[in-house]
Amino acid sequence: MPRHESVWSATAEMPACEPLRENAHVDVCVVGAGISGLTTAYLLVEAGKSVAVLDDGPLAGGMTSMTSGHLVSMLDDRYYALEKLHGREGARLAAQSHSAAIDRIETIVRKEGIACDFSRLDGYLFLAEGDRTQTLDRELEAAQRAGLRGVRRIERAPYADWDTGPSLLFPAQGQLHPLKYLAGLVRAIQRGGGRIYCNSHADHVEGGIPAVVHVGRRIVSADAVVVATNTPINDRIAIHTKQAPYMTYVIGARVPRGAAPRVLAWDTGDPYHYLRTQPLGEDELLIVGGEDHKTGQAHDSPQRYARLEDWARRRFPQMGEVEFAWGGQIMETMDYLAFIGRNPSDHDNVYIVTGDSGMGLTHGTIAGMLIRDLVFERANPWAALYEPSRVTLRAAAEFARENSNVALQYADWLTGGDVESTDEIAPDSGAVLRRGLEKVAVYRDAGGALHEHSAACTHLGCIVSWNESERTWDCPCHGSRYDAHGKVISGPANRDLAPAQRLPDKRAA
Ligand SMILES: Cc1cc2nc3c(=O)[nH]c(=O)nc-3n(C[C@H](O)[C@H](O)[C@H](O)COP(=O)(O)OP(=O)(O)OC[C@H]3O[C@@H](n4cnc5c(N)ncnc54)[C@H](O)[C@@H]3O)c2cc1C
Ligand code: FES
Repeated sequence: MPRHESVWSATAEMPACEPLRENAHVDVCVVGAGISGLTTAYLLVEAGKSVAVLDDGPLAGGMTSMTSGHLVSMLDDRYYALEKLHGREGARLAAQSHSAAIDRIETIVRKEGIACDFSRLDGYLFLAEGDRTQTLDRELEAAQRAGLRGVRRIERAPYADWDTGPSLLFPAQGQLHPLKYLAGLVRAIQRGGGRIYCNSHADHVEGGIPAVVHVGRRIVSADAVVVATNTPINDRIAIHTKQAPYMTYVIGARVPRGAAPRVLAWDTGDPYHYLRTQPLGEDELLIVGGEDHKTGQAHDSPQRYARLEDWARRRFPQMGEVEFAWGGQIMETMDYLAFIGRNPSDHDNVYIVTGDSGMGLTHGTIAGMLIRDLVFERANPWAALYEPSRVTLRAAAEFARENSNVALQYADWLTGGDVESTDEIAPDSGAVLRRGLEKVAVYRDAGGALHEHSAACTHLGCIVSWNESERTWDCPCHGSRYDAHGKVISGPANRDLAPAQRLPDKRAA
């Protein structure tokens, strides 16, 4: 059985940190200690601001611990698609900003001496099985128009025993060990005088002068607040109608040295596969991801890991046992780029970063550079492209499709449950059942005890769904996620599932 853990959290240790114990005042309060929050905090500290970072878990326990760690200017949604939505200039700025993000990470790694396995390497985009489209030619031309240097078409990606067929080569991409990088950022922020608090849940964020972040009975007041919680916990609706949550899954298995070259690779499938390797002691770990689905709208997550393994084993028969398996969530925006800047319809000193679109490491780094400039009221060439209040008219069809999908999810209130009775729920598993007008999310722990919560998501009331492989309750509407015991682990919900009234458990009797 593989460990249900990312290779990153299994092989890195974060610096110790304490919860917020007294009120504090700083120039900027950053909520969220993933790559977005920590990069923003680092660049603000470097520029002379006093900064406090709050995270409600251990440091870096969010989606940055679940990533596959590709650093790319080869954008997931294709340059020809970006051109259509944002024009040639928009695509050029997207290429420029993602390239600058990789450069910035490299600069920080060097300056702060962070040992995080950062390296530059080539990336390859190849056609998925059965794809006969002209995608590669169209993408080559669009990437060149966007100003990416050195992109070219080659006969195959450099895998010795697997013929990928024609590929596009994107030079000077990057990869790193994300948690070793974040550990280095934390130390650099602390050396620069920044304060970092973990296990400190931001209950409420108020803009104004000063802005105030409430953490239980304590507050942090600040000239500005940056909400970097992956998906904003301070915005009820506006942003969440413009992005959609998708779960994505990853496996890691050792391969003999040389069986898989140190490159990044992606196919053109939908959902697509992504690959890389990571040094693991004397060995090489092959990391393969994909099998994405709309969060809360698929009930076969264990089979998705099996399909990934099958896909990888057919291409790398020398692959050992799968040692790591993990899944996480990405936020796909309707126009393929993140939302970074002032929170719409809020005070001017509240900033957000969200909508990673599968490229959250570079988007999170762009956020650091862009928000620093906004805080200092300096012009930034990327500000309009990433403006959170933007409405991209050419993405209207996508917008309508996603929002009617959300509206459909409310029909779950009218249907029956996944099971009729708690007797049908196996140990360490969960299911939703109907009890009168209510829907109840029931988890049976490994010891057989039942844990019951209202199945109504505390964001806007959609019915959560059990994710069997991740052991989480996932909301199909805007991607809130809760652990098996109903504790919120991903926004936009910012409160745990409410307890439900418990029925007598016949098994326990
Ligand atoms: C399987 C997978 C593969 C991926 N692969 C890639 C890739 O190859 N390349 C790439 O660029 N991107 C990739 N991504 C996306 C990328 O990893 C993420 O978008 C990025 O790491 C998110 O960083 P973040 O800082 O925005 O959020 P997070 O890392 O989730 O950090 C947010 C933090 O906010 C905290 N928080 C939340 N609510 C509160 C609150 N109320 N109070 C206090 N703290 C709070 C959380 O505890 C968390 O630590 C991948 C994602 C997944 C899931
Ligand atoms: S995330 Fe919006 S209703 Fe659940």
